[in-house]
Amino acid sequence: MEDWVSLGYLLSAALFIFGLKKLGHPRTAPFGNQLGALGMLVAVLTTILSMELAGDAEWVLIGVGVALGSLIGYIMAVRVQMTGMPELVALFNGFGGAASALVALSEVWRYMEDSSNIPTGNLEITVIMVAAGLSALVGWMTLTGSLLAMYKLKGGVSVFGKWIKTPTWGPPWLNPVKVLLVIAVAVLIYLSIDEPTNTTYLWSIIGISCLLGLVLVLPIGGADMPVVVSLLNSLSGIAAAFTGFIIGNSALIIAGSLVGASGLILTFIMCKAMNRTLADVLFKSFGGTGEKESLTRTKVGSDPDEVAMMIDGAQKVIIVPGYGMAVSQCQHQVKEFADLISEKFDTEVKYAIHPVAGRMPGHMNVLLAEANVPYEQLIEMDEINSEFPECDVAIVIGANDTTNPAARSGEGPLAGMPIIDADAARTVVIIKRSLSVGYAGVDNDLFYMDKTMMLFGDGKAMMTGLNNAIKEI
Ligand code: TAP
Repeated sequence: MEDWVSLGYLLSAALFIFGLKKLGHPRTAPFGNQLGALGMLVAVLTTILSMELAGDAEWVLIGVGVALGSLIGYIMAVRVQMTGMPELVALFNGFGGAASALVALSEVWRYMEDSSNIPTGNLEITVIMVAAGLSALVGWMTLTGSLLAMYKLKGGVSVFGKWIKTPTWGPPWLNPVKVLLVIAVAVLIYLSIDEPTNTTYLWSIIGISCLLGLVLVLPIGGADMPVVVSLLNSLSGIAAAFTGFIIGNSALIIAGSLVGASGLILTFIMCKAMNRTLADVLFKSFGGTGEKESLTRTKVGSDPDEVAMMIDGAQKVIIVPGYGMAVSQCQHQVKEFADLISEKFDTEVKYAIHPVAGRMPGHMNVLLAEANVPYEQLIEMDEINSEFPECDVAIVIGANDTTNPAARSGEGPLAGMPIIDADAARTVVIIKRSLSVGYAGVDNDLFYMDKTMMLFGDGKAMMTGLNNAIKEI
C-alpha cells in the first residue's frame, strides 16, 4: 500500500510541475490548467485510498464532501465574469489558507483530546508545534486578509441593502502593531512546545493571526491591490506546505511549495510593474485611501467617422487595451479593427500590454488570445514605450490608470507606477464612456490634451461604429 501511495503522490507532483510549465505561455496555458486539475484529482484519490476507510459512514462523509465541494467550485467557476476573477481568486486564497489551518488544527486537537497521541520525541513535538503554529499563523491570516481583499476589490459590502464602502486606513502606528503581533505569535508558538495540550496558546495564535491578516490588508488600496492578492496566494501555498509537514503528506508539501514559490515570483513581478518594493506595499500604505478625485474639467467628444478619417493614412497604430475592453468584451471588434486598417490602409498595428492592465495578471493577453490576435503583436510595456514617438495614433480602449501621466509625478495613489507612454503618440484616441477616473481614483490629464480625441461610449459599440466607418471609406 505504502508504495502505491508514494507513486500516486509522485504522479500528482509531476502533473503539477508539468502543468505549471505549460502555464508559462498563453497558448499552452489551458492544457497546463487541465494537467494541474488532473494532478489534484490524483492527489485526492490517493489520499482517500490511503486512509483505508472502514465504515460506510466514512465513505458517505467523504463522498458528500467531494460532491459538495465540486458542485460549489463548478457553479462559481461557471458563473464568474472575467472581470470578477480577482475577487474569486482572493476568496479561493482565503479558503485555501483556512483549509490548511483547519487540517493542522485537527491534528493538534488529537493531542489535546488524548495526550497519549502526543509524539514522545522532543524534536518531533518541537517540529509539529512549530509547523502547527506557523500553519495557523499563515492560514488564518490568509483567510481574514483575503476576505478583506475580496471586499476591497468589490469596493464594499451590502448589509441589509445598504452599501458600505470597504475602508482603506493605515496610520503610521499600525506598522509597529504588525511587528508586535508577529512577535506575540512567535512567543506563543515557543510556549506551546512545552505545553502542547494547553488550548489557550492555540486559540490566542488563531485570534492574533486573524487580526494580523486584517491589519496587513487594511492600509493597502487602489492600484496596489494586485500585489496583495498575489502575496495572499503565495501565503495560502505556504500554509499548505506547513500542514503537509504536520500530517506527513508529501503531495501537500510539494503543491504548497509550488503555490508559495510561484505566488511569490508573481508578487515580485507585480511589485516591479508598480515600481514598489514589497516592504513599500506592506508598510507604506501606498495605494491611497480609495477616495476618487472629483472631476471639474470637460472635453468635447468625437465621433467614429471623424476618427476613421484621421486613421486613414496612419502608418503606425498602437492599441492600448485596459479594463474597459474586458468589461465591454470588445476584443473581437478590436481584432477586426486591426485587420481592417492593416488590409485597407496598410497600417502597422501593435498592442501595448501593461502588466497590471485589467483586473488580473495577463488579463489583456487572455482576452486578445481569445480573439486570435497573434502573440507577436502583443508587446510588453517596457519594450513598446520607445515606439510611441513614431506612432501616428494610439488607440486607448478602456485603459485609464495604466496610461495616466499622474503616475510620473511622484505623488498620489499612482506615484511611481510605470505607465504606457500613449501621450507620446502623435494623436491619441480614447474610447470610454465618460471622463471618469480609473481604479485608483485619479483624474487623467491624457483625456484633456489637445492631441486627444475622446470617443465616449461603450467599448463594443464604439469599436463596431469605428469599424463600420472604416469599411465605408
Ligand atoms: P482602469 O484604470 O481600471 O480604468 C478602466 C476604464 O475603463 C475606466 O476608467 C472606465 O471608464 C472604462 N470602462 C469601464 N467600462 C467600460 C465599457 N463598457 N466601455 C468602455 N470603457 C469602459 O483600467 P486600466 O488602465 O486597465 O488599469 C487597471 C487598474 O486596475 C490599475 O490601477 C491596476 O493596478 C488595478 N488592478 C489591476 C489588477 C491586475 S492584476 N491587472 C488587479 C486589481 C486591480 P468609464 O467609466 O468612463 O467608461
